[in-house]
Amino acid sequence: MGRKRRFRVWRGDSAGGSINDYQVEVNDGEVVLDVIHRLQATQAPDLACRWNCKAGKCGSCSMEINGMPRLSCMTRMSTFEENATVTITPLRTFPVIRDLVTDVSFNYQKAREMPAFTPPDDLYPGEYRMQQIDVERSQEFRKCIECFLCQNTCHVIRDHEENKRAFAGPRLFIRAAELDMHPLDARRDRKEAAQAEQGLGYCNITKCCTEVCPEHIKITDNAIIPMKERVVDRRYDPVVRLGHRIFRRDQLTAAPSRPEPAVHAPREAPHVPQGVTWHTPPAATAIASILPGERLSATEFTFDRSGAASPFGDDVSFPLPVEQLRYQRPSDPSTDGSGPE
Ligand code: SF4
Ligand code: SF4
Ligand code: FES
Repeated sequence: MGRKRRFRVWRGDSAGGSINDYQVEVNDGEVVLDVIHRLQATQAPDLACRWNCKAGKCGSCSMEINGMPRLSCMTRMSTFEENATVTITPLRTFPVIRDLVTDVSFNYQKAREMPAFTPPDDLYPGEYRMQQIDVERSQEFRKCIECFLCQNTCHVIRDHEENKRAFAGPRLFIRAAELDMHPLDARRDRKEAAQAEQGLGYCNITKCCTEVCPEHIKITDNAIIPMKERVVDRRYDPVVRLGHRIFRRDQLTAAPSRPEPAVHAPREAPHVPQGVTWHTPPAATAIASILPGERLSATEFTFDRSGAASPFGDDVSFPLPVEQLRYQRPSDPSTDGSGPE
């Protein structure tokens, strides 16, 4: 049998509102979203709240609980002291639509401004090859569920509406970093764009965004700081600085301007079957062709299918220890490909 606890919930809309008091039953093992649902069912049927999965994966139930930006479906009631009052307010950085629902379209607008992934001119889907180490580098960023808790927390825009025009925010910085680290992205101006157009320089790496990320993405350490380092790399490159000391300005050759990403030349598109196939069988083993004198990479050699369960087994972590790597040098008949080189 549950017992009643005190909840304070912000009610209102864009014109204004106030915090209302409620006594709601709480049972063992419940999360804050359960209590909100009970509140809707018993006392406040018109209370607006956004949610979808109740599993921490859709990112829609973001709100502030006792002042802390959290997913309400992943916040257990046992987190709080037995008699503590729980105060629930909408995300503060975004305009309120009603009650606990905010308008997060700022984030989608900034996402639309981000230049899309730009593969090289002569590469088509199905022809991509990536090394495992490159996959791992950006894998972390792809865990983002777009809950926008990081955006809500960032002090650059939290109480500064005027900064929103020039600042994309941490969620978009991890996207920029992911693309900048992608070996098949042909754009070379991601860091410059992050600095000039997305306001990377506004960030003073306080790590508040990292602290609230429910996916535990190391936003600051793994995305923002590397991007900042790449931006200053050229400016503080000792070789470039030495060049400026030795030569007069007019003797220095201007750096060649970065080429614009090439646009795909018209080529007959590969056949794409119509419709959606939900249950795709694992692709047949495909061994990459090896030209004379070339070496088959470890990834090509060990990875025998795509879009299926890991062929390495679930208990293998990457990078693989070197003694487990099998290399094959096709041009060398003395190696049988079974042992480390
Ligand atoms: S580390 Fe940067 S992006 Fe993250 S909250 Fe702080 S200022 Fe904002
Ligand atoms: S980076 Fe983390 S906090 Fe930010 S939107 Fe993605 S999942 Fe949410
Ligand atoms: S309801 Fe989907 S993350 Fe909470």
